[in-house]
Amino acid sequence: MGEGDPAIDALQHDGATYSPPADVAAGAVVSDPAVWTRAADDRIGWWEEQARRLDWASPWARALDDDDPPFFRWFTGGTLNVAANCLDRHLAERGDRVAFHWEGEPGDRMDITYADLHGRVCRFANALRALGVERGGRVAIYMGMVPELPIAMLACARLGAAHTVVFGGFSAEALADRMNDFGATVLVTQDEGWRAGKRIPLKANADAALERAPGVAHSVVCRRTGGDVAWRDGRDLWFHEVEALAAEECPAEAMDAEQMLFALYTSGTTGKPKGIVHTSGGYLTGAASTHRMVFDLHDDDIYWCAADIGWITGHSYIVYGPLANGATSVMYEGGPGFPAQDRLWEIAERYRVSILYMAPTAIRTFMKWGDSLPAAHDLSSIRILGSVGEPINPEAWEWYRDHIGGGRAPVMDTWWQTETGSIMISPLPGLSTLKPGSASGPLPGISARVVGEDGREVPAGRGGYLVIDHPWPSMLRTILGDDQRYVDTYWSRFPGMYLAGDGCRVDSGGDYWLLGRIDDVMNVSGHRLSTIEIESALVDHPAVAEAAVVGRADPVTGEAIAAFVTLRDGVTGDEALIADLRDHVARQIGAIAKPASIVLTPDLPKTRSGKIMRRLLRDVSEHRQLGDVTTLANEEVVSAIADLATTNPHQED
Ligand code: WT7
Repeated sequence: MGEGDPAIDALQHDGATYSPPADVAAGAVVSDPAVWTRAADDRIGWWEEQARRLDWASPWARALDDDDPPFFRWFTGGTLNVAANCLDRHLAERGDRVAFHWEGEPGDRMDITYADLHGRVCRFANALRALGVERGGRVAIYMGMVPELPIAMLACARLGAAHTVVFGGFSAEALADRMNDFGATVLVTQDEGWRAGKRIPLKANADAALERAPGVAHSVVCRRTGGDVAWRDGRDLWFHEVEALAAEECPAEAMDAEQMLFALYTSGTTGKPKGIVHTSGGYLTGAASTHRMVFDLHDDDIYWCAADIGWITGHSYIVYGPLANGATSVMYEGGPGFPAQDRLWEIAERYRVSILYMAPTAIRTFMKWGDSLPAAHDLSSIRILGSVGEPINPEAWEWYRDHIGGGRAPVMDTWWQTETGSIMISPLPGLSTLKPGSASGPLPGISARVVGEDGREVPAGRGGYLVIDHPWPSMLRTILGDDQRYVDTYWSRFPGMYLAGDGCRVDSGGDYWLLGRIDDVMNVSGHRLSTIEIESALVDHPAVAEAAVVGRADPVTGEAIAAFVTLRDGVTGDEALIADLRDHVARQIGAIAKPASIVLTPDLPKTRSGKIMRRLLRDVSEHRQLGDVTTLANEEVVSAIADLATTNPHQED
């Protein structure tokens, strides 16, 4: 493997292993150890079995259409409505059941039943229809974690329109780019969001974005904080007003299984984010079946995925998977440290949460905050734990199991991506023996391999590229508007295999160890950010001549963004300029993309062909001895940068 090679010889784990707890194994949703071979022997039949758990308006004619790879299609000829699967079909038996125990950051609470949610979704769907949103329409959503966010998503699904949710931490620029690429005609947003006691000016950002997105005719604004907002008559409408005026009767449109349900933008190796396209039938099949199996969902479970709906984790495991399964979930609006650092444990105790799913970066933060915080709460209801977003180190895994899971609850380390739509590699709670730090293996119906440069499977214990060598229902269908980029990015490196972009090693026991990204994509707090996107934002600043960005290992966030910047001639760099550069990146992309450190340097290490050698910058950032420097054209610059990197103060938020 070339630049960005994951640690191929990562340490073999020889620590403790954990068998499934007896009580979990006894009543598990999946309890047949032959499930993997049964699914592998008839992969398509397995997925048809999962799809049959949904309500179809008309049955599919063909389960997998692989006539034109890699443009695979699932359940063709079948029709269904995703919102009806998430809501209507539960009404007769569990209309009064709570869908969301919603909790606002300031402490306000609301229990929303399936019947409540159904009513509000129908009304809002009619309101969207009145704004011209029809089957095949496009709606952008830019909100915080309020109930109106899933309501807006499901209203789109009910009409057969597609949504794109833009995470509330993104900037106006990022929102505008996504709305334009998506072709949105309506935006749903809110006045302000709450985060760590502060107001996030969502509508102000949205207004700035709308200036650059002429295709968006209307902005529907949810009132959350009640703060003052600018208003443009004719364009802006209050969510509560249009909802109140709309009729509650709203038939769910039967949609083709392959109809786009949503696109979600994610960072790639070039500056332009990719609109990952997910469909209705295949996506819901994947999200619902994995949610039920991986978390061993039972009727009396209280499930909490402490992620944001603005990312794929929230789409699949706060909204679509749990609702399709008729689950009762907790949904929390705000930050984990507000008003105190035990907020999450207080919530988990109040609702008697039994399944908890979160990112390693959060787990490591809680570790840092101290054992006494969870210890002060009764977390005895927790039965199953989940982790997602990045590799979880064994120490954090053990801490999670001990301090949150009472030393009992098994940890499901779930590997997947925006592109895969649902969990791909994970243990099953009733069957898998766990090794902390390993994601166990591919789920039933999924086939994943580790291959070398030549595309051939590498022997056990050796690192290589993770590929998926059979299509699966919740896979992305394309990159919106760019089929060629879809083929190039995922399917061209190894013919017939989906390239995940992660390094991986399978140990002699068949367990998979994820080794991090192999491309110029960083993973900061479980979110993918492209180095090039941040470099473009830096170079956009008038003081900057050139910039290189790398992810440096960080004990809490997984990776931290380290930037190296060359200034234009005549510009003097100082602390104020560094602060300004960081703010500039926040304005261009969002606060999540702010570099943790910026080193001003007279030059960047380059190959003779002029390619920036990010690998060396990573070495420098992590205070490692430099790797191979034989292709380096300007050797003197690296030691100069190394000196600067150790003397320059790191700027952290
Ligand atoms: C990338 C996908 C899928 C939801 C959140 C992130 C990394 C994700 C794991 C895990 C090791 C993981 C990979 C992957 N990743 N889960 N359990 N172990 N790495 O979605 O933003 O699409 O990022 O996150 O590098 O490629 P995403």
